[in-house]
Amino acid sequence: MPFDWTAIEQEAQEEIARAKTLESLEGLRIKYLGRQGLLAKITSSISTLTVEERPEFGKRANLLKNNLTRFLEEKAGCLKEEKASAALSFDFTSPGIIPQLGSLHPITQTIREIASIFSKIGFVVVEGPEAESEYNNFTGLNIPLEHPSRDAFDTFYLRRESCVVSHASKKDARRKTQDARLLLRSHTSPVQIRVMKKYRPPLAVIVPGKVYRPDAVDASHSFIFHQIEGFLVDDDVKFSDLKGILEVFVKRFFGEALKMRFRPHFFPFTEPSAEVDISCIICRSPELRTTNHESRKCSVCGGKGWLEILGCGMIHPNVFANVGYPRNKYSGFAFGMGVDRIAMLKYGINDIRLFYENDLRFLRQF
Ligand code: PHE
Repeated sequence: MPFDWTAIEQEAQEEIARAKTLESLEGLRIKYLGRQGLLAKITSSISTLTVEERPEFGKRANLLKNNLTRFLEEKAGCLKEEKASAALSFDFTSPGIIPQLGSLHPITQTIREIASIFSKIGFVVVEGPEAESEYNNFTGLNIPLEHPSRDAFDTFYLRRESCVVSHASKKDARRKTQDARLLLRSHTSPVQIRVMKKYRPPLAVIVPGKVYRPDAVDASHSFIFHQIEGFLVDDDVKFSDLKGILEVFVKRFFGEALKMRFRPHFFPFTEPSAEVDISCIICRSPELRTTNHESRKCSVCGGKGWLEILGCGMIHPNVFANVGYPRNKYSGFAFGMGVDRIAMLKYGINDIRLFYENDLRFLRQF
């Protein structure tokens, strides 16, 4: 049988050249040089040849074996080198890809800063639900039924009053269903009721959180905003304690140079009540001004020199009665501040809507 040694060798050589991995190369070695491989088959056919033909055939077979062995070895060398350089081609010194990190929202930062000041003077942070009962939001806080803030135009009610058949008088039944009705809390004060119902004084608590009011949205109004409530209840708490604590807070938060003033006010759940102003952080209050034109251009305080930052007062005895505290045993103060407004003052932000638009150009600045 005439053998095309050249064709066999060429085909094997091409196949070996195409091998991509050391594993497939080993497959080719077995195919050609293995015990049952092509070369073994060729060699075994020697017995069919004449004695004269055999030496030449043997020589050609040997040459083929040597060449294939060489091709395989050379290719194995190449593949090993490729593998090693692929491992090295990762440059450990090249700079990494920095993951995009977010940052805390300016409102969150402000809440944390305020909370940290109060924590250092012994207040604990408590949170309450945003969907609150009408009782905790109004009734328990001594806010009478006819108070305008209870109107559907001023509060987001979540569930309509259901019809309750009761043995109690009609008026009583109506009051009970109303109290159980859910709303989006319009302030953080209902957490006073929750905490005082559960715990006895001494209490020193601050409550940060979202509140909701159906206000038309503009540069200074939003239907959602944030408050921090604070209250302290003990045996003998005085209005001067309230003043002292707020003075510490205001000076630590806005700076020592700031002035603070209390204006008489009314809240149903505190008596006496006050609103607190700080001297305008832009143009400063009249006593602190060095020149007279400082106030003229001030768009932040409208030239008044004072900025309202919170409401406060001594907790009303009716509130203590509503949570089941014995009469005349405890006294305490409460205050509530608008976080958005405070953050706007602190960072010089002139539009509350910026807090809620998720515009990264704004948020990245904090
Ligand atoms: N809850 C009041 C408000 O939202 C603020 C306040 C809290 C006033 C506590 C007095 C005491 O306007």
